[in-house]
Amino acid sequence: MTLTTRMLTRETWDDFAVLVEANNGVWGGCWCMGFHPEGVGAGHTREGNREAKRRHVMRGTVHQALVYDGERCVGWCQFGPPPELPNIKNRRVYDRGIDDLPDWRIGCIFTNTKDRGRGVAAAAVAAALGEIRQAGGGVVEAYPEQTEDRPPQRGAYLHTGPEELFARYGFTRVRKIAKWRWVMRTTV
Ligand SMILES: CC(C)(COP(=O)(O)OP(=O)(O)OC[C@H]1O[C@@H](n2cnc3c(N)ncnc32)[C@H](O)[C@@H]1OP(=O)(O)O)[C@@H](O)C(=O)NCCC(=O)NCCS
Repeated sequence: MTLTTRMLTRETWDDFAVLVEANNGVWGGCWCMGFHPEGVGAGHTREGNREAKRRHVMRGTVHQALVYDGERCVGWCQFGPPPELPNIKNRRVYDRGIDDLPDWRIGCIFTNTKDRGRGVAAAAVAAALGEIRQAGGGVVEAYPEQTEDRPPQRGAYLHTGPEELFARYGFTRVRKIAKWRWVMRTTV
């Protein structure tokens, strides 16, 4: 599999949409809106989430590296400054222990169910960090899941990605915000 990357823009929206549709909207219709200011859940519909995401893309208020296998979009890594992605998981615990906000954070990471275990997420994170570097760099935070000392987890349960994936790119643990979730940081 030869992987390439592009950013999510109005030109690549259709490729992204095909991937989301093929995965039942991702988590039943999130459309990768969970970390954006609008959030998801009560009062939100699958169609509303799709439209909200499309609006962000058309307005340019989203940063998201897409991974392609040939012409097929197979995964992504969402990133952005904290105001663009305020709704991280375990936010209450996160807010309680906060010293300073990062310049950037990694939000949602996702690989097509049929393409897991082939380096798609690794390519997505590498592309996101490359974009951050080009945009001036800074402190980057991710909120991945610990897999060490834990029974093996299917990728489906690693909502924010495995710790090893981020450690590979220089992220180190800062503090724990849930039983299996850490704040990790690197400087780009
Ligand atoms: C977690 C996820 C992104 C991994 O994607 P992937 O493309 O399969 O990952 P990669 O092949 O790039 O793996 C990179 C590294 O991550 C780690 N990794 C990946 N899957 C793992 C798993 N199930 N358990 C432990 N570590 C794992 C490994 O260290 C791997 O490196 P290696 O293959 O050299 O050992 C994918 O399983 C997924 O999309 N899960 C659902 C996430 C989700 O729900 N997102 C939306 C909600 S917020």
